[in-house]
Amino acid sequence: MRSHARKVKVLGAGSIGNHLAHASRTLGWDVTICDVDPAALERTRDQIYPGRYGKWDETIGLSAAADAPRGGFDIICVGTPPDVHVRLLAEALAEKPALILVEKPVCGPFLEGVREMWDAAVASGTKVCVGYDHVLAPATRKVEELIATRAAGDPVTLDAEFREHWGGIFGAHPWLEGPWQTYLGYWRRGGGSGGEHSHATNLWQHLAHCCGWGRVSEVSALVEFGTARDAEFDTIFALNVRTEKGGYGRIVQDVVTRPTRKWARVQCSEGAIEWRANQGKRGDVVALLHADGRAEEFDFPKTRPDDFICELRHLDDVLEGRVAESPTSLARGLDTMLVLAAGYESGTSGKRVAIDYATGYQRSALRAA
Ligand SMILES: NC(=O)c1ccc[n+]([C@@H]2O[C@H](COP(=O)([O-])OP(=O)(O)OC[C@H]3O[C@@H](n4cnc5c(N)ncnc54)[C@H](O)[C@@H]3O)[C@@H](O)[C@H]2O)c1
Repeated sequence: MRSHARKVKVLGAGSIGNHLAHASRTLGWDVTICDVDPAALERTRDQIYPGRYGKWDETIGLSAAADAPRGGFDIICVGTPPDVHVRLLAEALAEKPALILVEKPVCGPFLEGVREMWDAAVASGTKVCVGYDHVLAPATRKVEELIATRAAGDPVTLDAEFREHWGGIFGAHPWLEGPWQTYLGYWRRGGGSGGEHSHATNLWQHLAHCCGWGRVSEVSALVEFGTARDAEFDTIFALNVRTEKGGYGRIVQDVVTRPTRKWARVQCSEGAIEWRANQGKRGDVVALLHADGRAEEFDFPKTRPDDFICELRHLDDVLEGRVAESPTSLARGLDTMLVLAAGYESGTSGKRVAIDYATGYQRSALRAA
C-alpha cells in the first residue's frame, strides 16, 4: 500500500530520532529533527545518520528545540528520554497534529502527570501511538495467526524475555562514559532493565490479548538493583503475571545477558509457538513446535531500518483508518506502564501487587493482591 506524503517533526536527535527520520525519508516524507542540545544535532548530521545510512540527507531540517516550527505537522514523534515524554506529549497535543508517536516507555514508573495527559489525549482529535514496534513486526503477525488458528492447540502459558547486556546501547552512544550520564542509569526516570527492555512486557500483553486473556491483573516480581556513581538502576526485572481472565506466565528483562536473547513462547495444549528476534541473516524467526518433536520454522529477514519503516507504515494505516485498533495505541502503552509500576512496587516491597484499571492511569491503580 502506497503511503501519503506526510510532514513529520521528530523531537530528539538521538538514536531513535535518527531511525524515525530515516524511516520517514524512506517513505518520501518531509522531516524536521529538533533537539535541546546543539551537539546532538551536529552528531546527527556528521556521525549518526551518515554512519548508519551511508550519507546525510540534506532535505532533513535540523532545528534547536526552542526555535522549532510549531503547527502544521501530520505526525510528531517524541524520541527523547522518557522523563520528558509526558510534558512533550502534552505540548505536542496543543499543536493538533493528526498523530503523535511517543517512544517507549511512555514515562517513569511513578506515572507523574499521566492521568492529566491521558484526559487531554482522549479529548483531542489526535491519535497517539507508543513506539513498541515489535508488536507490529511480520513475525509477530505470524504468531498472531498461529494462535488464532490454534495451530498448536489452546494457549496454556506465555513467556516473554528481552535480555540484552547494555554494552550494545553504550556502543551506539560512544559519547557516554557510563549509565550515570543517561536516563538509562536511573530506574525512577524510565531507565534500568524495566524501562529499557519494556518491549518484553508489552509483547507479553499483546500476545495475552491474542490468546483472549485480557489485561494483566496481578504481578509478583523479583527486581535486582545496581549502582554506578549516583545512578541507580535495575539489572534484572523478572515478573510472574496473571491476567483478568486467568492467563498466566513470566516476563524477564535484563541488562546483563550476552549474547542477546529476545524471545517469546506461547505454550499450548499440543505444542508451542516461539518468537525469536534478530536471528542473524534469518531475521526474526517463528517456530511452531509440535509435541511429537516436529518443528516448522518461518523466517522474516529484515534490517534494523525495516523495523521503523514497518512502524511508520503502520502509522500511515492508522491515519488512513485502515487499522481499527492499533496494538501500539496509547492505552496499550499505558497498560504496559501499569505493569512496570506494579513490578517495581512488588520488587521493592516483596509483595504481590494487583492492578485496578478502573482507577485510571495513575499509581493509585496499584493495590496489595
Ligand atoms: N522503539 C525502539 O526500538 C527504541 C530504540 C531506541 C530508543 N528508544 C526509546 O527512545 C527514547 C530515546 O532514546 P535514545 O536512545 O534515542 O536516546 P538519546 O539519548 O540517544 O537521544 C535523546 C535525545 O533527546 C534530546 N532531548 C532531551 N530533551 C529534549 C527536549 N525537551 N526536546 C528535544 N530534544 C530533547 C537529547 O538531547 C538527546 O539528544 C527512549 O525512550 C528509548 O527507550 C526506542
